[in-house]
Parts: sequence; C-alpha cells; structure tokens
Amino acid sequence: MSDATRPSSPVPLPLVIDTDPGIDDTLALYLALNSPELDVRGISVSYGNTTVENAYRNVVEILRQGGKRARLAVGARRPIARPLRTARETHGATGLGYAAVPPAGVILDFVRPLERLLAEQEDRVTLVTLGPLTSLALALRREPELVRAKVARHIAMVGNLKAKGNTTKFAEFNAWCDPEALATVLAAELPSEMVGLDVTRQVVLSAADVSRLGASEAPRARWLFEALRFYVEFHRDHEGLEGCVVNDVLPIAALLEPTVLTFQPVRIAVDLNEDDRRGRTRETKDGAAALFAREVQVDAVRSLLSKRVFRWATAAEPAGAAR
Ligand code: RIB
Ligand code: CA
Repeated sequence: MSDATRPSSPVPLPLVIDTDPGIDDTLALYLALNSPELDVRGISVSYGNTTVENAYRNVVEILRQGGKRARLAVGARRPIARPLRTARETHGATGLGYAAVPPAGVILDFVRPLERLLAEQEDRVTLVTLGPLTSLALALRREPELVRAKVARHIAMVGNLKAKGNTTKFAEFNAWCDPEALATVLAAELPSEMVGLDVTRQVVLSAADVSRLGASEAPRARWLFEALRFYVEFHRDHEGLEGCVVNDVLPIAALLEPTVLTFQPVRIAVDLNEDDRRGRTRETKDGAAALFAREVQVDAVRSLLSKRVFRWATAAEPAGAAR
C-alpha cells in the first residue's frame, strides 16, 4: 500500500482534515496532531455542529490550547440546497460546550476553500471528513480533476446502516445536514470509506473518563473537560448514556491502526427526501460503490484516546506553548 493511504512506512501519512468543531471533532484533531505517524498538512473548517464562523474560531482555539500549529482553510458555510441548521443542543452555542473561547470573527469571502488546500499539496493526501460533506462536494463540483489528483483516499465519519440515526430515527447528522453533498461525493466513487454510527455508537467515553480530565491541574485538560462536560450532559439527557459517543475519533484511529475498523464493500445511496428519511443512507444494488465500517476494535480506540489525548492533556503544560 502506498504511503499516501496507509502509515505502513516510517514516512508520516500526509493528511487533510475537513471538520466542523465540534466537541468530538476536537478529540479527533488532538489525536491526529499528537500522532507522529500522521502529518496534518491542513485543516479546513465547515459549518455543521456550529456556524462556520464559530468553527474557525474554535479550530484556532483548539490549536492554541493544544500548543499546535496547522494550515487552515474555510470550507463550506451552508448546505448546498438545504437551510442551515446546526447542532446547538449537542455542542452548545459556541460549538465547544462550556469551554472558554474568544468571540468569533467575521469570515471574509476570499478565504481559502478546501480545494486550495488540496492544490497546495505536493504529495497525494488522505482526506478525512468529520462534518457534512459540503466542502468536498463543492470541491468536486468546482475542480473534480484536482480532487482526484490530490486525494489518494477519502475516509468520512458519515452515515448509518443498521444503527439508528442520531438526527432523525433514520439519519446520521453529517448525512442529514447536506444529503445532496453526500450524494455528490458518493457518485464520485473516490472511493469513500464510511465510518458510521454502526461502529461509532460502540465507542463511549465514560463520564468517569471525562471527570478525570476535570480533576487535573493542567489548563488544557480543564479546558477540554469543560467542552466534554457539556457533551456528556447532552448524551445523558438525550441518549440515556453515562458518557458520550466520540464519533470523529474513529476515522483517525483507523489511520493509526488499520485493524481498528473492518470495512466491507457496499452499494449505497442517500435519501434526498424532505421527511424524516432525509439523509438516510441505505444499501441498494444500483447505489454507489463505497466501503462501510461494519466492526470496530473498541479497546484499541479507547487506548489511543487515553494515551495520545487524555494522558497528553493532563501533562502540565501552559496553554499556547507551541509543539
Ligand atoms: O453524527 C455525528 C457527526 O455529526 C460527528 O461528526 C459530529 O461531530 C457531527 O459532526
Ligand atoms: Ca464532526
């Protein structure tokens, strides 16, 4: 397998991440940025869990709190054909729960979209999408050859087949936000590897795990605790969970340890309805070719999160110290 798709060689895997931070996105970003096997070449932010203005402010604060640096881009601001609706109840008014963040600025029009970030890459990259598929769909519509030339592999947190939805009973949030975008991406048959609720619902961070962050003296651990505390409250109230589902961590974990996820080839379509089937992903013989994650090694994901995010966060280092 070439370097551009698997970290099988000592050369770090070049990565571009499109994300809608977002509390579980934050954990995924820290896992990627703390893993020497991965070379995060750029992060593009999208609307989704929150507005694109908040998402940009959040990724800057996530980097500052973690003492990290990354090239940033601004991807999608709203769905292709649907009204904008964010997940305020799940991630809070800022997108980062109770975590302290500075005010969001205004996003100017001439900012760098995802395709500009891809165009800058000398090597082919692995593209990870952790939010709605709008940024990638727009890049495919504007510059399809550029996307195919630069993206060696696309892995997405999106969709569900056997697992119940988390936005309607049928649909997962990233698919629901912009089903037209997901349809565009699926039709491109990059191919996309879909990490959906069928596996992500199995990885629950316990309330006790989260509380240990809050008990730490380290500023970044306490900042992360304030974000996760909100997320645990949401899951307790809406899912009856004593913890939280860390969806976006799984695609990153799979890049670090390929055996973490078991994918199967599927033919898949997404419903473009206006009713509660909007964004439902389902197998159909005339659907697009994709890979869908059927199984997850839960302990392996939890171990990566514990070693590379929680242990790192609780090591006492002042916020803003660059890596
Ligand atoms: O359905 C879960 C997905 O939607 C995650 O990526 C979460 O961050 C939200 O974007
Ligand atoms: Ca996300």
